[in-house]
Amino acid sequence: MILGQHSRNVHSPMNILRRTKIVVTLGPALDDAEMLRRVITIGADVFRANFSHGNKETHEQRITTVRNIAAELDKNVAILLDLQGPKIRIGRFKTGKIHLKEGQSFILDTTLEGETGDEQTVGLDYKNLPNDVRAGDTLLLDDGRLEFRVQRVDKTRVYCEVIAGGDLSNNKGINRQGGGLSAGALTEKDREDIQTAAKLGADYLAVSFPRSADDIKEARILLKAAGGKAGIVAKIERTEAITNLQEIIAASDAIMVARGDLGVEIGDAELPAIQKKLIRVARSLNKPVITATQMLESMINSTIPTRAEVSDVANAVLDGTDAVMLSAETAAGKYPDKAVAAMNRICLSAEKHWSSKTNRQRREPHFNYVDEAIAMATMYTANHLDIKAIITLTESGTTPLWMSRVKSSIPIYGLSRHPETLRRMTLYRGVFPIQFDATHIDRRNLNQAAVAELEKRNILQRGDLVIITKGDLIGIHGRTNSMKIVTVGSVPNHLAAK
Ligand code: PGA
Ligand code: MN
Repeated sequence: MILGQHSRNVHSPMNILRRTKIVVTLGPALDDAEMLRRVITIGADVFRANFSHGNKETHEQRITTVRNIAAELDKNVAILLDLQGPKIRIGRFKTGKIHLKEGQSFILDTTLEGETGDEQTVGLDYKNLPNDVRAGDTLLLDDGRLEFRVQRVDKTRVYCEVIAGGDLSNNKGINRQGGGLSAGALTEKDREDIQTAAKLGADYLAVSFPRSADDIKEARILLKAAGGKAGIVAKIERTEAITNLQEIIAASDAIMVARGDLGVEIGDAELPAIQKKLIRVARSLNKPVITATQMLESMINSTIPTRAEVSDVANAVLDGTDAVMLSAETAAGKYPDKAVAAMNRICLSAEKHWSSKTNRQRREPHFNYVDEAIAMATMYTANHLDIKAIITLTESGTTPLWMSRVKSSIPIYGLSRHPETLRRMTLYRGVFPIQFDATHIDRRNLNQAAVAELEKRNILQRGDLVIITKGDLIGIHGRTNSMKIVTVGSVPNHLAAK
């Protein structure tokens, strides 16, 4: 058995720690409790509830089941609630589906309602399209499978020539090549779903199609007002988001490289370079990053990935991603457990490559915070000494997040008494959350007790060298101000005397 996080029997030789985290999308294929249990056991760290599909009740049911099984297995898993966002869609056809031929004309008409579409014309869910496009624009439908060129536009209609034809069915998405559609990031449905995120206690909330930091800030205000504490994930999937990248990352708690829609907007061939850039910039701004979409797409129907997919996942790991994501592979595929197992083994192997381990210390001329300085000093020391593990006593998870921005092969154990902090840390590369309440332990015994917690879990043995970070004021956020190097077994045992 290979586990992503530490539970008890860690010293079995198979049980190597996977630093890269796995995000698994929920769906009908995981509604079988045994399958879900397997997926958690094999290594799912974060579960994504995709609010583009399904109703509230189904999502709530699934989230409850995930939490119950995770609790049984004594594993920390986070819930990521993913908002649908303003997917710009066509309306419906009389026959559900039509076929378009290259070279023919086709009209997108905002005045058509209901199931009225045919081979010549179809309605639009997104009524503002005629204001957003001009003659000469390229429109991509159904994730780029079909391509239209805009010939002319009037108040209510967009007249197009079909450049690449094919089947087109109800409610398929439309993107404009180069971006520039004016739809706001948060729809009415998203606003309601933010209430649901707060009510269900989601750990992360993903905002789809943000254009600027304001879209993220608005989601944060709504979430806070609803009493939610989730971290906000900005999905980078519009041209505008690339333009405003720094401010969006600064306003978010994490980002997602949403390759599906992003590939349509900027062109698929641009993706690999943009992925590298997004990961690098997110890490340098101290934010985690999820690489998403079609990572093991063929495993929807196959028990093994293609070689190209294996390389794609491995390269995301080498780029420095915090997490890799499965979408339809686990939500609607035939082999969700095999897809997670494939992710697990590909990540583990990629992490053996020298570039995953080679430390590149930060070269900032100045640190802004004391806990940031402690985190950087810890990583520098750990990467230059034979350190077995880093133990960080944390309230909010900030110190381990900083630590995890520096490449290393040494595990960072985030010890916290707060379940929300433990779940938040499941996304951070190389950070392994452990429940530990330091508030009623005598300060003199704290190092000892933290080490004992890891010995109990068979993570540490006598003689191991560890680094411990903590603050003078236990139980207060943002006060980490010390690091200490300790040899396991050499600390006097105050605890035994009690
Ligand atoms: P989606 O987002 O699956 O919600 O569309 C991810 C992407 O666009 O890649
Ligand atoms: Mn998307």
